[in-house]
Amino acid sequence: MIVPGYRDHPTEPWDRFAPVDPGEAEDFLRRCYLENPRLGPVEPRLAIVRAQIAATGTYVHTTDELAHGAKMAWRNASRCIGRLYWRSLMVLDRRRARTADEIYSLLVQHLQAAGTGQLRPVISVFAAAEPGRPYARVWNEQLIRYAGYRTEDGRAKGDARQLGFTAAVREYGWRGKGDAFDVLPLVIETPGEGVRLYELPERAIREVPLTHPEFGWFAELGLRWHAVPAISNMRLTVGGVHYPLAPFNGWYMGTEIGARNLADADRYDMLPEVAARMGLDTSRESTLWRDRALVELNRAVLHSYEQAGVKMSDHHTESQRFITHIRNEEKAGRPVPADWTWIVPPMSGGLTPVFHRYYQELDLRPAFYLDEEAAALASNGVRRCPYAN
Ligand code: ARG
Repeated sequence: MIVPGYRDHPTEPWDRFAPVDPGEAEDFLRRCYLENPRLGPVEPRLAIVRAQIAATGTYVHTTDELAHGAKMAWRNASRCIGRLYWRSLMVLDRRRARTADEIYSLLVQHLQAAGTGQLRPVISVFAAAEPGRPYARVWNEQLIRYAGYRTEDGRAKGDARQLGFTAAVREYGWRGKGDAFDVLPLVIETPGEGVRLYELPERAIREVPLTHPEFGWFAELGLRWHAVPAISNMRLTVGGVHYPLAPFNGWYMGTEIGARNLADADRYDMLPEVAARMGLDTSRESTLWRDRALVELNRAVLHSYEQAGVKMSDHHTESQRFITHIRNEEKAGRPVPADWTWIVPPMSGGLTPVFHRYYQELDLRPAFYLDEEAAALASNGVRRCPYAN
């Protein structure tokens, strides 16, 4: 779908990508070659890169550098509890894609590479931002997300987090079925073609209908979720080079869905209904009806993914893996930056080992960053450049 009326905006976010800092490039390359002896000595490579930066303001990563840089960015992601497997990241080098059609088909390929059952972590890295030049981007926060609609009685249907984004794609002519789990279209913006909307094919969207191991009525709630969480609006930065379009996925930890997406009052807000079906006394908080409903909702999520053969971990197992990761990294002499508020699972925190300790909060690079503007586009399709005035 081609969107008419796309205009240039006075102050563009790409204006802020200055030429590459040679110090950051050197720091990355030294680490990268140190961690990968098979790449050979770094000195000759540094000479080439310095010359490239001096001549053009930037430089081009080799496929090996890009692959290891992306893995390092995952390793440095302080909010991610799933970092034990950072080495296993599959890196798809998509730097040559330019048109929206090309990008779209590679995003579909990304989801297929991630898989539908035994999921694997994948990142697709598209073209680097060139200083002062516009770049391609995806507005969606994830490749797969469910629309949210405001109904006549003023309540929300679907994912309330997507109300603004859904309204924005409706402005561009998209119409969903109006159901609680309508997959949103991809919004791909390229310098040459402006904003285009694309519908993902069914083969790229694996979903799991939710049932409960004991409560037969649970299926009647009509809940479901998608198999693959694929963040699509974070900028990957490696050695001073910025990759504004670098969607990546892992697999779900059950609580992301059961204790947040379906439970949060400003998302699907399912706890009151689950509690009612369970026949719990919801007249007082002290009956802990919320907590009891939360456990059953999370059991349903884990049970359903397991039955469907879709990879998912529980918060106890993933917490233990994270502690193993910390131990591995300490052995390798590397710090593990971590954000306690994100690492501790949203239910039963104190039952997991990650709760009972402190972490270093460091901004190590390579890294993934969510730019303010990318966040604004994902939340309501409105361009907001924090540097504009
Ligand atoms: N919490 C986000 C969601 O519910 C996904 C974030 C990434 N999660 C992951 N397991 N890789 O969709």
